[in-house]
Amino acid sequence: MQCDILCVGISTLDRVWLVDSLPTGGGKFRAHDYLELGGGMAANAAVAAARLGGRVAYWGRNGDDSAGRTMRDELAGWGVDVAQFRLYAGHRSSVSAIFVGRDGERTIVNYRDESMPTDAAWLPAERAAGCHAVHGDVRWPEGVAPAYRAARAAGVPTVLDGEIAAPEVFATLLPLTDHAIFSEPGLASFAGRPIASDADRLAALAAVRAQGCRVAAVTRGTQGVLWLDEHGEHHLPAYTVAVVDTTGAGDVFHGAYALAIGEGQSVEAAMRFSSAVAAMKCAVKGGRAGIPTRVEVDGFLANG
Ligand SMILES: Nc1ncnc2c1ncn2[C@@H]1O[C@H](COP(=O)(O)OP(=O)(O)OP(=O)(O)O)[C@@H](O)[C@H]1O
Ligand SMILES: [Mg+2]
Repeated sequence: MQCDILCVGISTLDRVWLVDSLPTGGGKFRAHDYLELGGGMAANAAVAAARLGGRVAYWGRNGDDSAGRTMRDELAGWGVDVAQFRLYAGHRSSVSAIFVGRDGERTIVNYRDESMPTDAAWLPAERAAGCHAVHGDVRWPEGVAPAYRAARAAGVPTVLDGEIAAPEVFATLLPLTDHAIFSEPGLASFAGRPIASDADRLAALAAVRAQGCRVAAVTRGTQGVLWLDEHGEHHLPAYTVAVVDTTGAGDVFHGAYALAIGEGQSVEAAMRFSSAVAAMKCAVKGGRAGIPTRVEVDGFLANG
């Protein structure tokens, strides 16, 4: 059976200039290399789920400009259905200009179109009911909420990437979420206070579950993942790999998790699968280039 996964939320584009040393002041500089890298929580999750064998659709929005078309084409190239990736005329896409020096130091300039329409009435939300899992991020709650509602009504599991967001975003999405997987900064933003200990983490995760989520989790980079579910508290250490680039590890973890849950794997098996996929991604440079295929993950898990 091929698993149908829907990912709703943000897509971004990083334009990266590799330079000898970071530019200072005015003037003209020459880069020795240049990269265009697609990113964004939901878009990266979509690429991961597709790479792992899912049939994946990405729903999102950006500007009708060269960056928007680059993002859409790249996602399509990974096999993601981009029919509902809407590019708005008269708006500009989310892009970052990144300068990276030979010493690894970087300067990042981000642009975000604050007037980008949030309206999501054009989305075919009812199609979420026909998927095996729906993943959403906190950057477009107006698009995620209707997809989650349709999924909920049909018994389709929903997965949230709990990154830093305003309280009203969590108030809208958590009551519709089955699997809420936070980053550490995201969990602190939900809790409204710093999180310094496991006791703090567990209290915040209990508060997440009180919103109606079946699983409340926090990913902790090299410290692995901690979660609460109906059976209690669980901890899974991260896999040890030769780390080259952790960009997008959290996003990729979510895409793999949504696929595993969509396939009907247990929460523990899904956590293990996603941890393996995210760790393998970290062993290769780039946010998406290191996402393993299914055969590669199965081999990794069998030998781990
Ligand atoms: N250095 C690493 N080595 C092995 N696994 C890692 C490493 N970094 C991340 N992971 C895996 O990826 C998961 C998610 O990473 P992390 O908690 O850093 O996500 P995040 O804070 O959401 O970051 P981002 O969204 O920017 O990628 C971790 O729980 C772990 O399983
Ligand atoms: Mg993250």
